[in-house]
Amino acid sequence: MSLALAETTPASSIALDIEGVTHRYDLDGRDLAVLDDVSLSLAPGEFVALLGPSGCGKSTLLRLAAGLETPTTGRVREDGRPIAAPDPDRILVFQDATLFPWRTVRANIATGLEARGLIREREYRIDEVLKLVKLEGFADFYPHQLSGGMAQRAALARALVNDPKLLLLDEPFGKLDSLTRLKMQNELLDLWKNAGFTALLVTHDVEEALLLADRVIVLSDRPAAIVAEVRVGQPHPRRRDDPDLVALRRSLLEKLGISHDV
Ligand SMILES: Nc1ncnc2c1ncn2[C@@H]1O[C@H](COP(=O)(O)OP(=O)(O)O)[C@@H](O)[C@H]1O
Ligand SMILES: [Mg+2]
Repeated sequence: MSLALAETTPASSIALDIEGVTHRYDLDGRDLAVLDDVSLSLAPGEFVALLGPSGCGKSTLLRLAAGLETPTTGRVREDGRPIAAPDPDRILVFQDATLFPWRTVRANIATGLEARGLIREREYRIDEVLKLVKLEGFADFYPHQLSGGMAQRAALARALVNDPKLLLLDEPFGKLDSLTRLKMQNELLDLWKNAGFTALLVTHDVEEALLLADRVIVLSDRPAAIVAEVRVGQPHPRRRDDPDLVALRRSLLEKLGISHDV
C-alpha cells in the first residue's frame, strides 16, 4: 500500500513558521480576540498536534496556515515565504467529509486536479491514492453509499491526490466511531510516513495526539496562547499503554484543566 506513493512522489514537505500571530475577528463591530501572540514552527516533515478548549481558536490557526485568512498581526510563512493565499501545496481536511454528493468517489478525488488543469497529466494519481486509502473497490460509489470512515478516507484521498506539502487536519476523525478512528489513525500515520508531508493536526483526543505527533501543543482558552508543549520521542507504532505516554497523557490533561482521574 505504502510503496505506491513512495515510488511516484518524492518526499516533499515544507517548514511552517507562525510568528507572533495575534488574530481578531470583527463581529458586527464587536472585537473578538482569538489568537494571542502565538509562535509555532514546524520543521519539514514534522507532525504536530494541537489541543485546546472548544472555541479557543484552533480552526482559525489552521485557516491562517492554509492561507484562507491573514493574521491581524504577526507572520505566517512557508519555507520563509509569506503565506498570503490558499495553495494546493497546503490542504485543509475538515471533520465533516464534505464530498460532493452528486459525484462518485473517483470524481470527488479528481476535483482538485480538474480545477488545476492537471487531470490528464495526473489522472493516474487517482488510482494510486484510492489504493492508499483502501478504497480501490469503491471508485464508482456515491458518497451516500459510503460509511463515515470510508467518506473520511475519500476526503483524505481527495487531499492527497494534490501531493500536499502541508496537511492541515481539523479534527478529522471526530465524528467516527472509536474503532474506525483507531484504524484511521494508523492509516494517517502510514500516509504521513510514506508521503513525507508536514502535518498539523487539531484534535480533542489527547491519546490521538500522543499516538501520532512528534510534538503536542496545548492552547489556552480564547484568545488562544500556547500554554504547554511536549515532545513525544517514542518511535511508531506507539502503544497507548506505554508508561511514558500514560504519564504524558496525565500531564497534558492537567494542562487542559482536566483532573487526572478522568
Ligand atoms: N469567520 C469568523 N468570524 C467571526 N468569528 C469567528 C469566525 N470564525 C471563528 N470565529 C469565532 O472565533 C472563535 C474561535 O473559533 P475557532 O477558531 O473555530 O475555534 P476552535 O476551532 O478552537 O473551536 C470562536 O469564538 C468563533 O465563534
Ligand atoms: Mg474548530
